[in-house]
Amino acid sequence: MKRIKAIYPGSFDPPTNGHFDLIERGSKIFDELVVAILRNPDKDPLFSVAERRKMLEEITSHFDNVSVDTFEGLTVEYALQVHATAILRGIRAISDYEYELQMALMNRKLQPGLETVFMMPAARYSYLSSRLVREVAKLGGSIECLVPEVVMQRLREKIDVAHKFADGEDSDASRNLAPKSRLRKRKK
Ligand code: PNS
Repeated sequence: MKRIKAIYPGSFDPPTNGHFDLIERGSKIFDELVVAILRNPDKDPLFSVAERRKMLEEITSHFDNVSVDTFEGLTVEYALQVHATAILRGIRAISDYEYELQMALMNRKLQPGLETVFMMPAARYSYLSSRLVREVAKLGGSIECLVPEVVMQRLREKIDVAHKFADGEDSDASRNLAPKSRLRKRKK
């Protein structure tokens, strides 16, 4: 019987509940799903590739058919390398559609044998993005219910470290951070 292996490529900086929702859905329709983190030397991420990999490994450890990997260069080349025949991407709202369509068609031009499969995350995550999570977390807002628990912890640690670094200094870093008190873990 034909087994379908798919890759789910992205930046995942950091992984959100929207990503997790898509991984869960993808794991149900593909025999194998590889969450593939792009190693992009041009970007200045909040989390290193190793940190993102660890978080994704932790949140997907209970899926038998999901693994996590990293790649560099073209997504289609990576898909071929791991013998995947599908690329999974999420579409949250119509605003995602144009970019995703362009990417899917370019990937098809580069590698006609690969299919892009779009899935929609749960509607409650339709406004959620890694960029907004980073911004809200840095400014001390609550990201509860928007990212897995492990990601929440790592974000807190990261922001605490940034505070220590910026303490007492009138640096750009300190200006971009919320007052410490607003970042403390809420008492339940
Ligand atoms: O999570 P993101 O940032 O929306 O993911 C974008 C990603 C990594 C899927 C896209 O940038 C990508 O595929 N980059 C790899 C380089 C590549 O293949 N470029 C041509 C895409 S048509």
